[in-house]
Amino acid sequence: MSASDRRKRITTPQLQARKGGEPIVSLTAYSAPMAAFLDPHVDVFIVGDSLGMVFYGMDSTLGVTLDMMIAHGAAVVRGSERACVTVDMPFGSYQESPSLAFRNAARVMAETGCGAVKVEGGVEMAETVAFLVKRGIPVMGHVGLTPQAVNQLGGYGARGKSRAEFARIVADARAVADAGAFSVVVEGVVEPLALAVTNAVSIPTIGIGASAACDGQVLVTEDLLGLFTDFTPKFVRRYADLGSQIGEAAARYAEDVRARSFPGPEHCFRPPKTGKD
Ligand code: KIV
Repeated sequence: MSASDRRKRITTPQLQARKGGEPIVSLTAYSAPMAAFLDPHVDVFIVGDSLGMVFYGMDSTLGVTLDMMIAHGAAVVRGSERACVTVDMPFGSYQESPSLAFRNAARVMAETGCGAVKVEGGVEMAETVAFLVKRGIPVMGHVGLTPQAVNQLGGYGARGKSRAEFARIVADARAVADAGAFSVVVEGVVEPLALAVTNAVSIPTIGIGASAACDGQVLVTEDLLGLFTDFTPKFVRRYADLGSQIGEAAARYAEDVRARSFPGPEHCFRPPKTGKD
């Protein structure tokens, strides 16, 4: 990325300044072409480790590696020019210690050209968030339903239904905000909790399955486009049904190949005319 490319990007301070103002529009992206299609419409790309499930067919995000995140993060940076690209730190790449987190986050920043990283967790991650931020790495937090903790949470159900968990998640959001995160994803929580978190912190909250009470919204792009085959979560509004269109296009192609009507003459290379024929 050149210096002039970098100047066109939305920055993390600009996003942070939108607390309580114009809603932040975010989508996930994993590839350069998808990033190019979406870039004019979004403020933040999250290169989510959801790619393990959505793109690679894994049954959780736990098997996603740092190298996978770097490859996809770099592709999204190459495919976009305006949105701030935030890359997820995958499971095991940051939880052990602040210094391991810094080493891996610095690799992500240097090798992708992204603008920020995202880490899951609250109170227990605050020290790490502060360590990264003090060393020049913008951090987006992620509280509520944190998919990397699925084995501890026991599933992907909405969080914050008990008073104790409600209070814990508000404390988590406060902790990452106080540690210097520029924004925080709030995932899969009951609506009153989304409102409580948004009121409790001075940084923008970006909701997914967290109602309209947040300062912005993010969705997994494949969910919004009807491209994820497993199921559509309750909190998703589908804006297109591209999965069906892909199936129909493939069926027409297969029919044409079987009928020998594709390729047509217009698709064939011809030898140059020599004048001797
Ligand atoms: O991995 C992911 O897609 C996420 C979303 C909440 C943005 O973290």
